[in-house]
Amino acid sequence: MCGIIGYVGKKEALPIILDGLHRLEYRGYDSAGVAVQSSVGIKTARAVGKVAALAERCEGKSLAGTAGIGHTRWATHGKPSEKNTHPHTDCTKSFFIAHNGIIENFQELKEQLSKIGHTFKSETDSEVIAHLIEDAYKKTLNLEQAVQSALRKLRGTYGLAVISSLEPERIIAARMGSPIVIGFGEGENFVASDASPLLSYTRTMLYLEDGEMATLTPQAHTVRTLNDKIVMRSAEMIEWDANKIQKGGFSHFTLKEIMEGPKVIENTLRGRLIAEGGLARLGGLQTISEKLRTAKRIIIIACGTAFHAAQVGEYMLEEYAGIPVEVEFASEFRYRKPIINSETIVIAISQSGETADTLEAIREAKRKGATVLGIVNIVGSTIAREVDAGVYNHAGPEVSVLSTKAYISQLVVLALLTIHIGRERQMSLSVGRRIAKELQELPKKMEKIFESAKNIKSLAKKYAKYEHMLYLGRKYNFATAFEGALKVKEASYIHAEGCGAGEMKHGFIAMIDKEFPTVAMALQDSVYDKMLSNIQEIKARSGRVFAIATEGDKKVAKFADDVVFIPQTLEMLSPILAVIPLQLFAYYLTLERNLDPDRPRNLAKSVTVE
Ligand code: M6R
Repeated sequence: MCGIIGYVGKKEALPIILDGLHRLEYRGYDSAGVAVQSSVGIKTARAVGKVAALAERCEGKSLAGTAGIGHTRWATHGKPSEKNTHPHTDCTKSFFIAHNGIIENFQELKEQLSKIGHTFKSETDSEVIAHLIEDAYKKTLNLEQAVQSALRKLRGTYGLAVISSLEPERIIAARMGSPIVIGFGEGENFVASDASPLLSYTRTMLYLEDGEMATLTPQAHTVRTLNDKIVMRSAEMIEWDANKIQKGGFSHFTLKEIMEGPKVIENTLRGRLIAEGGLARLGGLQTISEKLRTAKRIIIIACGTAFHAAQVGEYMLEEYAGIPVEVEFASEFRYRKPIINSETIVIAISQSGETADTLEAIREAKRKGATVLGIVNIVGSTIAREVDAGVYNHAGPEVSVLSTKAYISQLVVLALLTIHIGRERQMSLSVGRRIAKELQELPKKMEKIFESAKNIKSLAKKYAKYEHMLYLGRKYNFATAFEGALKVKEASYIHAEGCGAGEMKHGFIAMIDKEFPTVAMALQDSVYDKMLSNIQEIKARSGRVFAIATEGDKKVAKFADDVVFIPQTLEMLSPILAVIPLQLFAYYLTLERNLDPDRPRNLAKSVTVE
């Protein structure tokens, strides 16, 4: 989604801002713009499309100056166009703003401002902020106070950066529901919507809380609340380094991140498994251990890929920890009347830790008295800070819009959680040991699957001509089928649908013909025979079948047209391996269709609007 970068210091601001915008590209966007404070006022450049187009646009303009802001826009109000691209300005062109989020009362504010003579140049909700600041400045003659006064009139969400020609060498940043991080350098300071564009310059950062604003000059910073209380909070050191956010020899982040799977499993497990004792030590859950032991019910909330991980988690926790679990889309949860009490544990799963739907569902669950636990990848993210307790994924930065390695880490955390809760309840030592041992085996088993990458690539060549695909799975790999289909839709734009194998005969089977191939999860597990029957039903209707099967299985090839084998593991852990060929298949299908898997159209890496 939208991204913000700002710089104030001694260096030329433009190259730093453009570099930052490049690093924010992974969030998904449709246009980009910059505003730089030069000796003769603030100059801007905007372009629809890629940051590279903006960089080209900047070449012809004199955008010299040591302070500025930049923005990548993902359209919500007003289509992608130059006039809707940020930074936006006021009537006097003295105040420039870059905004992430949605101003819910913008229409009302726009009407009020129009009545007193303001003219608007864009269709965006964001532009009202610049005009409100213009208005307030006339009274306060102080940028900080003018921004503060403008923000008090807004309803909705914002992550904001403001510069003004009336007070050069100064950036004001503010946050309400959309993340803002401040970076500190030597004689220079930065602002951004996440840490990634700042990592090449500094690792000393401070995350603003909702309702806080910061004023940055080259030498100093202050943080205060909208009610003007000074906030004293120390900066933190961000451990990720900039190199981890590079492609490292791979052609795409998507491929790099899929191939990181085995490392991710090791990192997620590190220091957490006591294999001999069949136990999982999860430090972040210590404060709620009694609640976990006595809880009557678990609800898992998540969106997209994280939702699929939650579905696998439901099966793991019910089977091995013996506790009732329900899984719900975070986006539905708060709009109905979920029955929750203090004996309910709500688990929120989110890679980014910023997904607005998940965040609002967490707030609703807390209001209703539940204990909320987070499974989050991004350290210090809003969700990580708002939950009562949590487990970090340790998957490292995931740049591709397609969530791949984060999914692997979510499943591993859920398996750890199953051991953790299960051993407090009904799980025997031997079962705990068995799961722990199998978890440790997963990295090398996953490496083996990568040996099939060439084969999967050639299958993708064969299947790229189809416009529709069915993904079929059952029990633990029911969710794997949906996740495989989601990957294909997101990146290759082939229409792919997940379906529970048992459900197929209740409707979906009507779609099957020779133009509608099926990817079937046919592992040698407790539903193997049922899956083989389903495959035969598809073959009987001339449907082509590509099966994911267990190494050594001689039978499946008799029914399926194409097979990729994966090593045997515990049924509950099989989704961790089974999704890998599906991720690779989606990646290669996307390349076959000459599309960019890292940046699919219309999608954003972190969805910070509801
Ligand atoms: O950051 P989150 O895990 O909360 O994001 C949830 C979904 O938006 C995300 O998984 C989305 O579905 C991905 N694009 C999937 O590849």
